[in-house]
Amino acid sequence: MYRLLLKSCLVFLVVCISEACSSEQHENAATQNLSGEDKVRYEQYLVQGEDLYQARCANCHQVDGSGLRRLIPPLAHADYMLEDINRTLCLIRHGRQGKIIVNNIDYQQKMPANTRLTNIEVTQIANFIYNSWGNEHGFIRLQDASSALDSCQP
Ligand code: HEC
Repeated sequence: MYRLLLKSCLVFLVVCISEACSSEQHENAATQNLSGEDKVRYEQYLVQGEDLYQARCANCHQVDGSGLRRLIPPLAHADYMLEDINRTLCLIRHGRQGKIIVNNIDYQQKMPANTRLTNIEVTQIANFIYNSWGNEHGFIRLQDASSALDSCQP
């Protein structure tokens, strides 16, 4: 009896950590009405997007998307990013340099390109950053992101 209890607790914990708990914070007004299929895809993108973000973005933009003093702009509640999603998709792939104003602060450093990332990987990252840290954009579909990525200006 005792062992059974322990076992079910463990199962609950594993399921909780791997699935429900990590994605719940990304549930927002824009995503709660997604159809079943879209919902599953959205959840997958978030998990994979978070991994990619940790590996490729977090050392500059920080785990909590807050940026780094006057050197690296934030992604949490960042007006520049939220203003234009297609511009952000292209920026993730091709990088950027030169002056940029984010939330009324000037930044001028270089963001490296990520030309090896596939369209789906960029879409996963976009879903994660647009639906984390209080950003509530909603689901970004691969099809829409791909057509934006395929027509980025050099
Ligand atoms: C080497 C540090 C570095 C890495 C790694 C990096 N960035 Fe950036 N990012 C910057 C800098 C610096 C800028 C501002 C560039 C400029 O001044 O033109 C920027 C700008 C941005 C912006 C637009 C400004 C804003 O805050 O709205 C977004 C969005 C963004 N980065 C997302 C990402 C994502 C997503 C990744 C991972 C795929 C990433 N960055 C990786 C340094 C970095």
